[in-house]
Amino acid sequence: MRLGFRCWRESDLPLALGLWGDPQVMKFIDARLTLSGREVKELLEKHIKFQHEAGIQYWPIFLLSSGEHVGCCGLRPCGADPGTREIGVHLRRKFWRQGLAEEASRTVIAYAFGRLGLNALFAGHHPENTVSPVLLTRLGFRYTHHEPYGPSGLLHPSYLLENSLR
Ligand SMILES: CC(C)(COP(=O)(O)OP(=O)(O)OC[C@H]1O[C@@H](n2cnc3c(N)ncnc32)[C@H](O)[C@@H]1OP(=O)(O)O)[C@@H](O)C(=O)NCCC(=O)NCCS
Repeated sequence: MRLGFRCWRESDLPLALGLWGDPQVMKFIDARLTLSGREVKELLEKHIKFQHEAGIQYWPIFLLSSGEHVGCCGLRPCGADPGTREIGVHLRRKFWRQGLAEEASRTVIAYAFGRLGLNALFAGHHPENTVSPVLLTRLGFRYTHHEPYGPSGLLHPSYLLENSLR
């Protein structure tokens, strides 16, 4: 295991800017592409609020060997059913293609189905994102349908992973 997780803090704005302030990272996850400092702060506050209200967020992740900030990976509310959450992973460019998204996602899935006892995880991605389907399939997610996604105005492929421990 190369990664450590913790919760976002308000003082993490410089880390959040290093991640969500990069248009290459945001290319398929936010239609605004280039987020202002204030928009990154709002995103950080949103994830801090998810943790207070639902005990989940896209937790910041760090290399255990050096303490370097790698990105975030975690869960967020998704629809009305509290037994289903959405998984997401965003990495700084420097850490792409090292198997870290897969490693972080596997840790989050184990936490979601073990400790949190969730029934299922949902995932969706921008239709032009060719990496997410590979990663999601490798993690055991199955494609279910395309659904409209407000922020992009496009139909996004959707996936589900059910809790086999239940
Ligand atoms: C998508 C993202 C999380 C993938 O992270 P990653 O750590 O590079 O992924 P992994 O190294 O675990 O790769 C898993 C597999 O995905 C595929 N893959 C990853 N990056 C790829 C690329 N640039 N091109 C083609 N295939 C790729 C490979 O099959 C890879 O396995 P392999 O290296 O053994 O061949 C990362 O690129 C990212 O943070 N992008 C910006 C945010 C984003 O789009 N998140 C997804 C939102 S749904």
